[in-house]
Amino acid sequence: MACKSASELERTVNAARECIQYGNVAAYIPALAKANKEDLAIALYYPDGTCNSAGDVNKRFTLQSISKVISLALALMEHGEKYVFSKVGMEPTGDPFHSIAKLETTVPSKPLNPMINAGALAVTNMISGNTASEQINNFTSFVRKLTGGDHISYSSEVADSEFHTAYLNRSLGYYMKEHGIINGDIERLLDVYTKQCAININCIELAKIALVFAFDGTNPCTGERIIPAQIARICKTFMVTCGMYNASGEFAIKIGLPAKSGVSGGILAVLPNKFGIGIYGPSLDDKGNSIAGLKMLEILSTTFKLSIF
Ligand code: DON
Repeated sequence: MACKSASELERTVNAARECIQYGNVAAYIPALAKANKEDLAIALYYPDGTCNSAGDVNKRFTLQSISKVISLALALMEHGEKYVFSKVGMEPTGDPFHSIAKLETTVPSKPLNPMINAGALAVTNMISGNTASEQINNFTSFVRKLTGGDHISYSSEVADSEFHTAYLNRSLGYYMKEHGIINGDIERLLDVYTKQCAININCIELAKIALVFAFDGTNPCTGERIIPAQIARICKTFMVTCGMYNASGEFAIKIGLPAKSGVSGGILAVLPNKFGIGIYGPSLDDKGNSIAGLKMLEILSTTFKLSIF
């Protein structure tokens, strides 16, 4: 496997830049509308501890939905598969990430998977802690472990902005409470969820998290096991089937890597046993995925035959 050199990544960033104009930054969370649409960055982290990167690599952005795969790993570690999958299913929906439709038509009313907002809310509700701040501290510590970065924390501005406008997520939460999928206080749940989504990161740190998933839950640079292999495997499988929402099928065909996107423009992608990829590009397509980020992955996957299929 050729190491993608910094100059190859530079060329990839430049080639993908022309797509930026066809997307838009997310605006339904008001604080995200402040992002610079032109930013674009990629980092590849290797098991020997080296990293190649190009573009605006030091720009920080919030995890948003990428946090869903991390909270899933944490909930599975804390509660086991049987309990977690009694509250959330394993099937793709084909619907947008915030859709409520399947909650009403599925009997019993259980979210179809942990990568859509309904499923992610049900998972966040499981994170251990007696208070919202204990829960978010627990989650943040886990992200610190995955990135090796003690400075990792959430953006209060982005968390507050989402908390005060999260009408759809509130609806999903109350609907699931009515149907016994979630118990407890929905406002507290939204507090924890919006903070987990607002964890600040850059694409190099994101690539480090991807590297841990690439090596089945072990940090190959230190040899430390962070996630049990079976749980890392479950997370990667969800990335393939549901990680890019209702674009997951096309993504699997065109790019063929386990990946998870977020509306701030981040994409975490995994080449199993090889390297982790972190991407930032806040101009999004109509399904909420980074438009130039997808282009960069497509160029790399085609050029270097990265598809796992
Ligand atoms: O719950 C939300 O709507 C956001 N905090 C996260 C959504 C998201 O990132 C969907 N991604 N493409």
